[in-house]
Amino acid sequence: MAIVVSGIRPTGNLHLGNYFGALQSFVKMQEENQCFFFIADYHSLTTHPTPADLHGNVKTVLVEFLACGLDPEKATLYIQSDLPQTAELYLLLNMNAYIGELERCTSFKEKIRTQPQNVNAGLLTYPTLMAADIIIHKAHQVPVGKDQEQHLEMTRTFANRFNRMYNIDFFPEPVAYNFGENLVKIPGLDGNLKMSKSDNESSAIFLADSPEIIRKKVMKAVTDSGPANPDQPRSQGVENLFTLLSYFSFPETAAFFENQYNTGSIRYGDMKKQLAEDIIRFTTPFREKMMALSADEGYLKKVALMGAEKAQASAGKTLQEVREIIGFKPF
Ligand code: ADP
Ligand code: TRP
Repeated sequence: MAIVVSGIRPTGNLHLGNYFGALQSFVKMQEENQCFFFIADYHSLTTHPTPADLHGNVKTVLVEFLACGLDPEKATLYIQSDLPQTAELYLLLNMNAYIGELERCTSFKEKIRTQPQNVNAGLLTYPTLMAADIIIHKAHQVPVGKDQEQHLEMTRTFANRFNRMYNIDFFPEPVAYNFGENLVKIPGLDGNLKMSKSDNESSAIFLADSPEIIRKKVMKAVTDSGPANPDQPRSQGVENLFTLLSYFSFPETAAFFENQYNTGSIRYGDMKKQLAEDIIRFTTPFREKMMALSADEGYLKKVALMGAEKAQASAGKTLQEVREIIGFKPF
C-alpha cells in the first residue's frame, strides 16, 4: 500500500473543476492507499491572512472535503498546524537547503513579481516546508498539478541529500501520483479551456453556489451569434457549453441541443437554462451536506482531533528516527 500525501491551500471554495480534477480522485485514492490529506494553513501565512479569515478558510476546506466524500476513518485528514513535527522537520531541512536553489524556484520568482511588498522568508523556504509535509510521512506519491512539479522535484533533492549526508536509505523518493487517463477537464464559462478560480472567478461554478447564483452565472456564459454554418468549428464558448452538457445533463438532453445546433434552430438561452438546472441537480447534494457539516462544530472538532492523532503517530515516528540519525541523542 503506497503512502500518499497531499496538501490543500485554504483559499476559498471548490469549483466543479477542482471536484472532477482532484477531489473525485482523492476519494478513490483513499480506498487503495494510506492517504494523508492536510490543510496547509502554515503555508497560507506567507500572505498574512487575518486570524478570522485563516480559521474560516480552514473550516471551509474541511467542510467541503468531507462533503465530497473524504472519509476521516479511511484517510488521515488533518490540519497542518496541528502537526508541530512538520515545523521541526522544516527547521532541520532548512539547514541543508541552499539559498541559491530556493531563489531559483519559479514560484518564488513569481511571488517577487506579484507581491514585492511582502517577500518574506516563508516564501523563500516554501519548498522546504512542502518537502517536510511530504517526507514527514515517508510518502511515496504526491498528487500534484503541473504548477507543483518543481516543488516535488525539490522535495526529492532534499530527501536524497539527507540520505546521502547521513549515508542511510531513510526517506523514499516521492513521485507524482499518476492520475491516469481518466482525469476530466472542466471548461470555463468564460470561453476558456479550463474552469479556474485564480484566472477568472466568474468562469467558475462552486459546489457551494446557490441555485440563483448558478443560474445567473450560466446565463452569462460566453457564446456567439449562433450557428451560421453548423459544419464550421464551434466557438470555444459554445463548445464549452456542449462539454458541460455532456457531463451534467442526461444524454437525451445533450443530443437534443446537438440536433438543434445542427439544424440551426438552437437558442442558446434555452440550452443555458437547461444546463443550469442540470448543474444545480448535481451540486445540490454537496451543498446540503456542506451546510449540515458547517453547523456541526462537534463533528468537525472530532474529525480534526482524530486527524491530528493519526498524523502525529506517523510523523512522531519519523521525527524520532531523524533526530537519532542527525545525532540528537537523549542523555
Ligand atoms: P484554481 O486555481 O482554479 O482553484 P487550482 O489550480 O488550485 O485551481 O487546482 C486545484 C486542483 O483542481 C488541481 O488538482 C487541478 O488540476 C484541479 N483543477 C482545477 N481546475 C480544473 C478544471 N477546470 N478541470 C479539471 N481539474 C481542475
Ligand atoms: N504547494 C501546494 C499548492 O500550492 C500545497 C501543498 C503544501 C502541498 N504542502 C504540500 C501539496 C505537500 C502536496 C504535498 O497547491
